Amino acid sequence: MTKILGISGSLRAQSFNTLLLKAAIPLLADGVELEIATLHGIPLYDGDVEATGFPQAVLDLKTRIVVCDGLLLATPEYNNGIPGVFKNAIDWLSRPSADHPKVFPNRPVAIIGASPGGFGTVLAQAHWLPVLRALGTQPWFGGRLMVSSAHKVFNENGELVDEVVRKQLRDFLHGFSQFVQMEQGG
Ligand code: FNR
Repeated sequence: MTKILGISGSLRAQSFNTLLLKAAIPLLADGVELEIATLHGIPLYDGDVEATGFPQAVLDLKTRIVVCDGLLLATPEYNNGIPGVFKNAIDWLSRPSADHPKVFPNRPVAIIGASPGGFGTVLAQAHWLPVLRALGTQPWFGGRLMVSSAHKVFNENGELVDEVVRKQLRDFLHGFSQFVQMEQGG
């Protein structure tokens, strides 16, 4: 089984980015599973807090990353960049540096995102690139998914109702899953 961990960068209960990850689950190929993680409970990074012990929410998320085969980041876009909540979590997860080698380096990562606006998080996704590089991840660039007009793509029950986006999401997932499996060596 190929295990992908999807992290939503929004804390909102009705987050379009969380909904996008939920919509991905039934579209996965056989042999691939997607778990969804959110960033609830992760405090603002503070070196003094780190010095006295890591927050449990950070430790728990780190454990989930370490055992996954691939990471799927669903990023909102705030002011044309990465939301602070999401970057803050990644900063926590990159600490302590002694743990770093087992968390991010060479881990397959892909980015998707949804926004009610017209550009579907294109700028936030671009802003992730230097971060993924700094972490030493193995980003997948074989596909792109930028969901614009997200309020029209999901219905009031949070279901993905746009067939074009559903196909784009399925194609993206299949491409990324194959990349993850290749990195797994099979
Ligand atoms: C936004 N939003 C937004 N959207 C966008 O496409 N480009 C942008 O630069 C911004 N900037 C921005 C700043 C701030 C502070 C907020 C709160 C919002 C709108 C954003 O895409 C929208 O709130 C989404 O619904 C956020 O994602 P979730 O929470 O639905 O996953």
